[in-house]
Amino acid sequence: MKAIELKHPLIEHKLAILRDEKTGTKEFRELIKEIAMFLCYEAMKNVSLEKVTIKTPIKEMKTAKLNEDKYAFVPILRAGLGMLDGVITVVPNAKIGHIGMYRDEETFKPVNYFYKVPKGIEKREVFLLDPMLATGGSAIDAIDLLKENGVKKINFLCIIAAPEGIKVVEEKHPDVQIYCAHIDEKLNENKYIVPGLGDAGDRIFGTK
Ligand code: PRP
Ligand code: URA
Repeated sequence: MKAIELKHPLIEHKLAILRDEKTGTKEFRELIKEIAMFLCYEAMKNVSLEKVTIKTPIKEMKTAKLNEDKYAFVPILRAGLGMLDGVITVVPNAKIGHIGMYRDEETFKPVNYFYKVPKGIEKREVFLLDPMLATGGSAIDAIDLLKENGVKKINFLCIIAAPEGIKVVEEKHPDVQIYCAHIDEKLNENKYIVPGLGDAGDRIFGTK
């Protein structure tokens, strides 16, 4: 499946502020949350609804609702946590899992340190959350873990993606749909996204 990039002036505007090195932690977090809401909106475009009958103050009508219990959001710690607030604003009753993963600073390979997902995860459609898709190592390992646990439908939601990362995720997991707010130019020699926004985790949590 080909990666879907949000193309909208509002997204470009918000990304411009997000990327700016002068943007502080508070505004950075707010923007990650807002962009995550838009990504969620796009990623849930084709979900099926369940028929219901409701009564408005005027009359009864047949309509449809989302069965929120069929979905799970799984942020990749730490930076993915920044996107969680946004998606649960839109789908508040979805279940939430956590995958802990950090990128070794020398090898750039992901190290998994935590895995906790809701019961019955194999029956749910999963939306994996991580603002940065760089080499793709963390995304691939997180998807592997979910698939090993029986998950059949996975979407990957990120804010900024490098073409290199998209390519490897698409090769290894062609059934996973990637949604991103922007596809950037490339990775640098330290495997950071160019122009990117720097270290997403550090900017969300103010750790540097
Ligand atoms: C960042 C980011 C991704 C990963 C992307 O996390 O949030 O998880 O790097 O890189 P990759 O595509 O090359 O694997 P980081 O390792 O900095 O951990 P953190 O979220 O705890 O800061
Ligand atoms: N992780 C980040 O936080 N930023 C990058 O550019 C690459 C990986």
